[in-house]
Amino acid sequence: MDYFGYKNNVLCAEDVDINTLAKKYGTPLYVYSHRTITEHFRKIKSAFSDMPTLICYSVKANSNLTFLNVLAKEGSGFDIVSGGELYRVIKAGGDPKKVVYAGVGKTEEEIVYGIKSGILLFNVESVNELKQINNVAKKMKKTVNVGLRINPDVEAATHHYITTGKKENKFGIDIELATTLFTEARKFKHVNIKAVDMHIGSQITTIEPYVKAISKIKKIIEGLNETGAKIEYFDIGGGLGVIYDEEKPSTAAMFASEIKPLFKGMNIKLILEPGRFISGNSGILVAKVIYNKKGGTKNFLITDTGMNDLIRPSLYQAYHKILPVNVNKAKLKLYDVVGPICESGDFLAKDRHLPEVKEGDLLAVRTAGAYGMVMSSNYNSRRRAAEVMVKGNNVFLVRERETMEDLTAKDKIADIR
Ligand code: LLP
Repeated sequence: MDYFGYKNNVLCAEDVDINTLAKKYGTPLYVYSHRTITEHFRKIKSAFSDMPTLICYSVKANSNLTFLNVLAKEGSGFDIVSGGELYRVIKAGGDPKKVVYAGVGKTEEEIVYGIKSGILLFNVESVNELKQINNVAKKMKKTVNVGLRINPDVEAATHHYITTGKKENKFGIDIELATTLFTEARKFKHVNIKAVDMHIGSQITTIEPYVKAISKIKKIIEGLNETGAKIEYFDIGGGLGVIYDEEKPSTAAMFASEIKPLFKGMNIKLILEPGRFISGNSGILVAKVIYNKKGGTKNFLITDTGMNDLIRPSLYQAYHKILPVNVNKAKLKLYDVVGPICESGDFLAKDRHLPEVKEGDLLAVRTAGAYGMVMSSNYNSRRRAAEVMVKGNNVFLVRERETMEDLTAKDKIADIR
């Protein structure tokens, strides 16, 4: 469910016509729907409202400051993976006391920043990281809350680049080493082991891998509790899938109804880290067709957006629906929708049927709210797109289009002779 749809044959974001937005802000343009964001947040929140749960929106999916601010106002916590993300959360008005910090490579500087900011906990991914956090905390004369991220070794049935809970992945602590590590960790006086954590992958459309992983990790917690440890939180990560094409992901309510019973009698607080579930269908990428080009075997639609704005099709062969902004009744034609970048991998869609498209027409790439703008780059010295957020019939520019000056702002011409 989202709030992008046709009204009088014109694609709208909530109550605003996309043609108007493209005219005013130019293309390529990311357009977000406020209502889609808040409704998805509320759906997951209410599905878990009958047990103590903290929803920590995963900042990596879309870290625009307004996006974060909207969620902070909804009471969301945040899942971060870098000092930069922590900076954004604080700047956007997020509460550091609701921040959980994962990632395999936290630097000393980032750990200091996290401790100083008073985050809820660090989700630790290795023994050496645990030692490092303990040392930093000691120097700062603090005791820091940590969770141990356990790699449960389960198959998440998604693209292999975004599977994270298998033995061969770099994430988390091997499940067989976890119990020993917990015992050892007691030696560290400046860390307080408060949580166990997992994140098994992304764009997961079935509940079964979660049930498997949670059941495995639950056994560890039960064992630990017998030794007198006090595990307060179980962070089950993110990964809930969304609809790009014909997927049938579980709804928040279905997910909750299978997950909650697993925690019966456990006296534990739950943490969830949804990213794509909240942001995926909250955004589209609007582009203009620059040229129609007949190739040897293909019809190319060359647009003014490409892999520098949305890399998912190139990187994961990901499918994104493409819609004409203005409905036309022309007959369907087979196209490759591509960008202007000098790479054959620069495409948005291959072999896609669209009603015949003319130069100057606007297209909307759907489900671009997650892992879109955040993975963009300046490749080919292209300026990053503008971003707007729509609420009802109000439009807010939430990131300006980059300028030529922005492109070179950090470069220096060294005086080399
Ligand atoms: N928590 C942790 C520790 C994560 O690593 C991630 C995502 C999430 C939560 C949020 O996952 P989500 O709910 O959004 O699935 N660039 C890829 C996705 C990479 C996901 C990385 N980790 C893509 O475009 O599909």
